[in-house]
Amino acid sequence: MSTTTLPQKQKGVWFDPSGCSFREFDVTPPGPGEVLIKNVAVASNPKDWKYTRVWYDLVKWEGIEGNDVAGYVEAVGEGVTEFKKGDRVAAFTKMTQPHPKWGAYQQYSTAPLSTTFPLGARTAFEDAATLPLALGTAFIGLYRTLAIPPFITGDTKEKDKVKGKPILIYGASSSVGAYTVQLAKLSGLYVVGVAGSSAEYARSLGADVVVDYRGKTPEQISAEITKAVEGHGALHLVYDAVSTQSTRLIELELLGKAGGGKLCSVLPWPEELKVPVGVEAVWTKCSATYEEDTEFAAKMYRALSPLVDSGLFKPNRVRIIPGGLAGVPKGVEMLGREEVSGEKLVYLVGDTPGL
Ligand SMILES: NC(=O)c1ccc[n+]([C@@H]2O[C@H](COP(=O)([O-])OP(=O)(O)OC[C@H]3O[C@@H](n4cnc5c(N)ncnc54)[C@H](OP(=O)(O)O)[C@@H]3O)[C@@H](O)[C@H]2O)c1
Repeated sequence: MSTTTLPQKQKGVWFDPSGCSFREFDVTPPGPGEVLIKNVAVASNPKDWKYTRVWYDLVKWEGIEGNDVAGYVEAVGEGVTEFKKGDRVAAFTKMTQPHPKWGAYQQYSTAPLSTTFPLGARTAFEDAATLPLALGTAFIGLYRTLAIPPFITGDTKEKDKVKGKPILIYGASSSVGAYTVQLAKLSGLYVVGVAGSSAEYARSLGADVVVDYRGKTPEQISAEITKAVEGHGALHLVYDAVSTQSTRLIELELLGKAGGGKLCSVLPWPEELKVPVGVEAVWTKCSATYEEDTEFAAKMYRALSPLVDSGLFKPNRVRIIPGGLAGVPKGVEMLGREEVSGEKLVYLVGDTPGL
């Protein structure tokens, strides 16, 4: 580890089933292959309220939530040469770990080197904080689960094979969906999205057609998707960034009619929901810190960061929640009430009263 003197104590937000509390914690020096980041902006994801409010009986997890951080490198662990103190970075930390050092809702967070990526000079911290988890979920789902050749590497012939093919991205205006739409377009796919009040936003990200689901029956939505796909070949690829019973039933029917295909689901697949012959439904995860995906994820984050900096790849639209870390309980409650549309909730650590 670098020899700089680290701060000893810091404040952060502890999550347990009774709610959120603001507490003091130790600052943990980074271990080998780890980066300690002084957070400037951190962001929320829907799972941040689900773990302690919905899935607690199953996961029995409590701790410092959050996994999206952007800020300055404070110190690096043994073996880390890519970064030094003061570098501007964003990172996906590690989810649901027993040690609080990995949480985002605190002043200093630890992240693995592989999921820490440099930020260009034009990339604002609040924009960068929207990237890590949702972007990882998008590129793992698209390129690993659906096995589309990644646009950054690989055989040109393989990449050409998918060009123009249709993909359905359900939830095209969500945080994950917004990144999936852009990656799918970079891979040359024909994108049919489904969105509601933020449908225009999904169009602005490059979706070729956006079906507005509001006020429509599943049959009407399905018919509009079928019409949108006409002339672009059979629909064999689906990325479901919503993953409810009703979205899945629509997708299974569409893939069944097309004679099969792959469905990437962002939530666990319910065993009782049968899939037609020829259809493969897979629960994708942001497995960027899993051994088998570490190298790939490291490459993707580092390839996309310059595209964000040049404006070619758009970070999620940001909604700053006032009060810095003190705003976290309000933010996660908004996610719990499903009040967030086409935006990412971001907290500026420097806005926290008393810090
Ligand atoms: N597996 C993993 O590793 C992983 C990782 C990240 C997220 N997730 C899960 O993925 C889901 C999405 O996460 P997120 O961060 O992207 O959420 P988010 O941005 O907070 O989702 C809100 C968006 O969902 C859209 N939406 C809601 N119902 C819809 C429907 N029936 N059809 C189309 N769009 C709909 C809304 O679109 P409109 O406002 O336009 O209607 C809104 O923009 C969550 O369940 C989350 O827990 C899983």
